[in-house]
Amino acid sequence: MFLRSGYITLPFLVHLLCILFPLSALAEYGDIILNRKAEPMRKAQVGDVVFPHWFHRIRYRCDVCHEEVFILRSGGNDINMARISEQGEQCGVCHNGLIAWEPLECDRCHSLEPGWSAGPIQYAHRGEGQAEKTLKERALDIRIGSKAKPYSNIIKLASGWHPAALSESGLPLDRYGLVDWAAAIKEGKVNPIWDLNRSGKKRETRDTKILFVTKSEFVADVLFPHDIHVYWLQCRICHDTVGGPIFEKEAGKTPVDMLGIRQGKWCGRCHDKVAFPISDCNRCHNQPKGTPIGKDVIRREGGPAYYPVEKSVEK
Ligand code: HEC
Ligand code: HEC
Ligand code: HEC
Ligand code: HEC
Ligand code: HEC
Ligand code: HEC
Repeated sequence: MFLRSGYITLPFLVHLLCILFPLSALAEYGDIILNRKAEPMRKAQVGDVVFPHWFHRIRYRCDVCHEEVFILRSGGNDINMARISEQGEQCGVCHNGLIAWEPLECDRCHSLEPGWSAGPIQYAHRGEGQAEKTLKERALDIRIGSKAKPYSNIIKLASGWHPAALSESGLPLDRYGLVDWAAAIKEGKVNPIWDLNRSGKKRETRDTKILFVTKSEFVADVLFPHDIHVYWLQCRICHDTVGGPIFEKEAGKTPVDMLGIRQGKWCGRCHDKVAFPISDCNRCHNQPKGTPIGKDVIRREGGPAYYPVEKSVEK
């Protein structure tokens, strides 16, 4: 009726349907919601944008995008359509009809119904028997559910719904059911490129490990491995980041504590957002107190006096 009377055009209806029934394949741990330009997007009758990190990580290491194309901060990049489709920047570096599809099918990127906060997805979840629920409805379930149940959103997110394409990818999963990207590399399941132009330039490597002695007797120490990180990320992403380095290039120079990590500093710049979540304590706290350390391990200064250096080496 509306269609006939000309109030609603077909393209508008298509957009409206997409906004009301978002492509459910577009919400996975690590995905980023981009909607700071909500007003012009509503005017153009498109939904909010979901950027799927997992889908791109299969093909590309982090430094293809960070930080030459996008700086490592949600909202830190003024992403807009003119730069994407006319100047071939940002998403348009690849979504140009050569490397990936052109930015013509709006809803492939603008796939989310409005009403979400920008940044990494926190609440996407679908429990059993909730096949048709929208993201928003699922979030409500979680918020209601979380009052009664102790586990975090990350655990719920992981034990819930995942895109069909991900289930079919055969990627190894961690104990929560999230993709285990460290295992995916070790098992040779993915071999993402790091140089978009395949110019043959050399990649810097480093295999030292840094031992963070925790200021608590009740949690294991943290052995930070350079190797898996420099597989995915170039040195400058941590040591020469836009806005100031995440870590100084000197063991013990950067003060690090758990509260700050939880608030998104240091390790928390990536973990809990794109790399494995903070809830996975033992994956970082992987070195029981007193375990002998190898020659390639650099022990950070600043551990408490009641935990002498010799103890960790001798035992
Ligand atoms: C195809 C491009 C691309 C690749 C590859 C990529 N990212 Fe991103 N990343 C983005 C975009 C786009 C954003 C959002 C930027 C914005 O909001 O302005 C982002 C944002 C981020 C953020 C900021 C999150 C926040 O809340 O501040 C982190 C951390 C991040 N990426 C980590 C990674 C890591 C780690 C890898 C590799 C495992 C990676 N990215 C690979 C495009 C990419
Ligand atoms: C490759 C992914 C992609 C495709 C395809 C795409 N967009 Fe966008 N679009 C974005 C991103 C990312 C933003 C930035 C969103 C933000 O940060 O709020 C954006 C922003 C916008 C904005 C906000 C104002 C501006 O100019 O940036 C409008 C309007 C918009 N898109 C319309 C469209 C329309 C219409 C289409 C289809 C012809 C389309 N987009 C296709 C990724 C895409
Ligand atoms: C480094 C290259 C590169 C950049 C930069 C890039 N993409 Fe992509 N993207 C790809 C490739 C390659 C594919 C797969 C294309 C195919 O399947 O034909 C893809 C696929 C996608 C998909 C489809 C995922 C699915 O489940 O089918 C979405 C959505 C997407 N990109 C959004 C974006 C947005 C939004 C941006 C910018 C914020 C962006 N991409 C930036 C290379 C890139
Ligand atoms: C994921 C983040 C990350 C990346 C990527 C990274 N580093 Fe580091 N690096 C660290 C951390 C954390 C420390 C310890 C800082 C502290 O103790 O204050 C460190 C310490 C160092 C140190 C002093 C200790 C040592 O190993 O001798 C050097 C030198 C260093 N990094 C070089 C590099 C180089 C070269 C690369 C690239 C090949 C690189 N880093 C990539 C996080 C990173
Ligand atoms: C710039 C982003 C970034 C920062 C900062 C960062 N990591 Fe990571 N980390 C990653 C990525 C990406 C991986 C690969 C696995 C994944 O994506 O879940 C990883 C993997 C790891 C692994 C290997 C896990 C395994 O199963 O082998 C450990 C351990 C780890 N990180 C600890 C840390 C600690 C401790 C810090 C802070 C001192 C830190 N990371 C800082 C991005 C980061
Ligand atoms: C991404 C890596 C990572 C994960 C995951 C992680 N931690 Fe930590 N944690 C660290 C680092 C690094 C330190 C700093 C050690 C130092 O230098 O004092 C630390 C320190 C601590 C400390 C010592 C006190 C303090 O505030 O520094 C406690 C307690 C702690 N973590 C508990 C936890 C618990 C509980 C979890 C799981 C919910 C967890 N951590 C998950 C990296 C991690």
